[in-house]
Amino acid sequence: MRTEQARPIRLSDYRAPDWLVDTVHLDVALHPTRTRVKARLALRPNPQAAGPAPLVLDGDELTPLSVGVDGVALPESAYAATPDGLTIPQPPAGPFVLEVETEIDPSANTKLMGLYRSSGNYCTQCEAEGFRRITYFPDRPDVMAVYTTRIEADRDEAPVLLGNGNPVERGEVPGTNRHYAVWHDPFPKPCYLFALVGGRLAARRTGFTTMSGRAVELAVYVEPGKEDRAGYALEALERSMRWDEQAFGREYDLDVFNIVAVADFNMGAMENKGLNIFNDKYVLASPETATDADFAHIEAVIAHEYFHNWTGNRITCRDWFQLCLKEGLTVFRDQEFSSDMRSRPVKRIADVRVLRGHQFVEDAGPLAHPVRPETYREINNFYTATVYEKGAEVVRMLKTLLGPDRFRAGMDLYFARHDGRAATIEEFVACFAEAGGADLTQFMLWYAQAGTPELAVTRRYDAQAGTLSLDIAQVVPPTPGQPTKSPMVIPLVLGLVGPDGADVPPVLRGHGPVERGVLVLTRPAETFVLEGLPGRVVPSLNRGFSAPVKIKADLGSDDLRFLATHDSDPFNRWQAVQTLASEILIGNVAVIRAGGGVRHDGGLVHALAAVLADERLEPAFVAQVLSIPSEGDIARDIGRDVDPEAIWLARHALRRAIGNDLAPTLRVLYDRLRDDAPYSPDAASAGRRSLRNVCLDLLAAPGHPGAIGLAAAQYAEADNMTDRMAALGTLSLHDTAEREEALADFADRFREDPLVIDKWFALQAMIPDAGTLARVQRLTAHPAFSLGNPNRVRALLGSFAQANHTQFNRADGAGYDFVAEMVTTLDGRNPQVAARLMTAFRSWRALEPGRRDKARATLERVAARPSLSRDLADIVERSLG
Ligand code: PHE
Ligand code: ZN
Repeated sequence: MRTEQARPIRLSDYRAPDWLVDTVHLDVALHPTRTRVKARLALRPNPQAAGPAPLVLDGDELTPLSVGVDGVALPESAYAATPDGLTIPQPPAGPFVLEVETEIDPSANTKLMGLYRSSGNYCTQCEAEGFRRITYFPDRPDVMAVYTTRIEADRDEAPVLLGNGNPVERGEVPGTNRHYAVWHDPFPKPCYLFALVGGRLAARRTGFTTMSGRAVELAVYVEPGKEDRAGYALEALERSMRWDEQAFGREYDLDVFNIVAVADFNMGAMENKGLNIFNDKYVLASPETATDADFAHIEAVIAHEYFHNWTGNRITCRDWFQLCLKEGLTVFRDQEFSSDMRSRPVKRIADVRVLRGHQFVEDAGPLAHPVRPETYREINNFYTATVYEKGAEVVRMLKTLLGPDRFRAGMDLYFARHDGRAATIEEFVACFAEAGGADLTQFMLWYAQAGTPELAVTRRYDAQAGTLSLDIAQVVPPTPGQPTKSPMVIPLVLGLVGPDGADVPPVLRGHGPVERGVLVLTRPAETFVLEGLPGRVVPSLNRGFSAPVKIKADLGSDDLRFLATHDSDPFNRWQAVQTLASEILIGNVAVIRAGGGVRHDGGLVHALAAVLADERLEPAFVAQVLSIPSEGDIARDIGRDVDPEAIWLARHALRRAIGNDLAPTLRVLYDRLRDDAPYSPDAASAGRRSLRNVCLDLLAAPGHPGAIGLAAAQYAEADNMTDRMAALGTLSLHDTAEREEALADFADRFREDPLVIDKWFALQAMIPDAGTLARVQRLTAHPAFSLGNPNRVRALLGSFAQANHTQFNRADGAGYDFVAEMVTTLDGRNPQVAARLMTAFRSWRALEPGRRDKARATLERVAARPSLSRDLADIVERSLG
């Protein structure tokens, strides 16, 4: 009998597989409840393994029907087959062919892993460990095989049959109502990249010619009738393919590239070879149903999955500890793509907001883990902001340290050396060390040490000598399992802003000009002396957010205002305003908690007014500057003894003050930015809309009826979802008749459109009113809501738990209890989504004592329940640990 793998799994226990699989032939006969899977695996002992070994294959909820070796049925005494594994204790000594038939029930598959049904269509999801829910297999990414897949189905139920690779054959099954298709994927791949789709689907198609002249047929498959919403995704795919050729010299390698949108999907999308499967939220878009932000996300996710073809598929991960090898790198690549398609500074600001809002929070709590974890109990729980977003920052730092040319040389070497293989982080970094001629030993700590480094910077300006000394100390805080840390290599891009506002190139005493402005920190504390200064300069630290660190610098508000007006680095211009606002907000939170009245600061409003008046700035950037730190940002900056109610009050007061003080300017801008041209999702138009809608929101912040009326009018007259949704968002913050009217209208208008109703669920779940919990509870009974659909769950429950700071963190603990109740119900059905929702509790220790005790009690109650999934148990136990 195969015993359940003893978890936790450790990186240090890695062993090469005993058996390799050269080819896989699958024959899948689709049936709603009894799908038959015949698998023929060409196996051979791994020459690298220790010696003759039993064959142990993974399985998960499989029904075994028959087992054969080299064409002969195996007697039952020669193997052990259970739902979760197949073992042959004494397999042939040399290569052999294993034939196994299993039966699975796609309709009963509520975990949405393996083969399942979504809106009646068949689809698969195999990453990370879903292939074992289709057939017995060594389900690990370092076993790479060439797949041929025959898919058979009822002609009416599934007229479209798609697989990995290229289509090679299709036909009818004589004497039946069934047909089949055969697909062959010539590129060896790990089984997590396997996919098939069968169903009634309509396609939007186009052709693409690669840089070397290969003709590729591109198609985006959607529910029939929604083809008109697939055009933007298809165009984004073409742009992605062209960009990867130009930016990285990477070309597509099959005759077809198919994308399928499905309504029930645990994650965003999946990069299966030649057959990407998407959450329909990241495919379907029309001006009436999708916001500018939706269009941008679709472009980014299409690109991300496409880029995986090289970073993930052609070169995959040796084991799941190396997940950031494909994810961090591919996020970096999609960020660069979006920066080239849109505004680089605005994209950087948006990405850093996400990083701080998710990854810094994760890194500061009980779920903190290194970019490359060293142990896990459930790999599903490691598809995190740390692996993805911090993983991307680490690649970005490599580029910053090496410069663009040596970085590109490292990438080229990586592609050349590891193509067709399953690689590790060490192998990846070695390519940059070699091609870039750099010692990256200390740099590896970025992969190994969790926690966000904290820098303290103090200045000494010597007017006589014309020097500025920067004393920089770094500390990496303790994280679970890592009480003490070593200093990191931190590439800190430095600018010096002279008295006239122009940049002064930094020259380092004893070294000369600082190449590309990159100061490289390596020690716990060090001093950099900048010389040859024409006068007093203000340092602009960590330009472009060159390193994912927190910085405490001795810059006063005058310096910050100066940078806000003059810094040539747009990121730091934005950052200066954020820092100014953050200091005011944190001060006011303390005042509010002490029972005092909030302090009003004219300096910030001045800085904002200066930015508003600067006509050279792009609207999307100005919109970012006007968006003050979120409740989550403030909570994170405070760090401990957090009172979400006081944070909300302080933030609300500041928004009112800005809205009042700048009302005339905001109103003029609002009117001037009105766009009468037909909607277009391009970045420039989107930027104008974003600024206009930020103006509206600030104008309405003080609650004047005139501004509420303006929002109500915009809601009613909008000809696109961006403006309609923005107006509704503004209205949602004001307890008025207009709000309820608009919400009712929206529900009625988009009744037939689940993805749009998700926006309606999410918005209501985020209302910062005492009545919201009851509203959300009511909405769980709404006919459009379903615990079976991950998008609905994330829209209603995820928004409430992750984005409504005051109401999830109600002082009476009712928000915690409600979410925990929903999570435990969901756990029986879809553990992955349940566990993800439970991560909303990850900052509980940072709360003030009353809420902290309530959150702990809720976590303990969940932990004590019998039969939690491994996914949920892992999150709850680590959260309490
Ligand atoms: N590999 C997918 C991506 O990031 C994410 C994913 C993981 C999807 C696990 C499904 C399951 O592109
Ligand atoms: Zn990915």
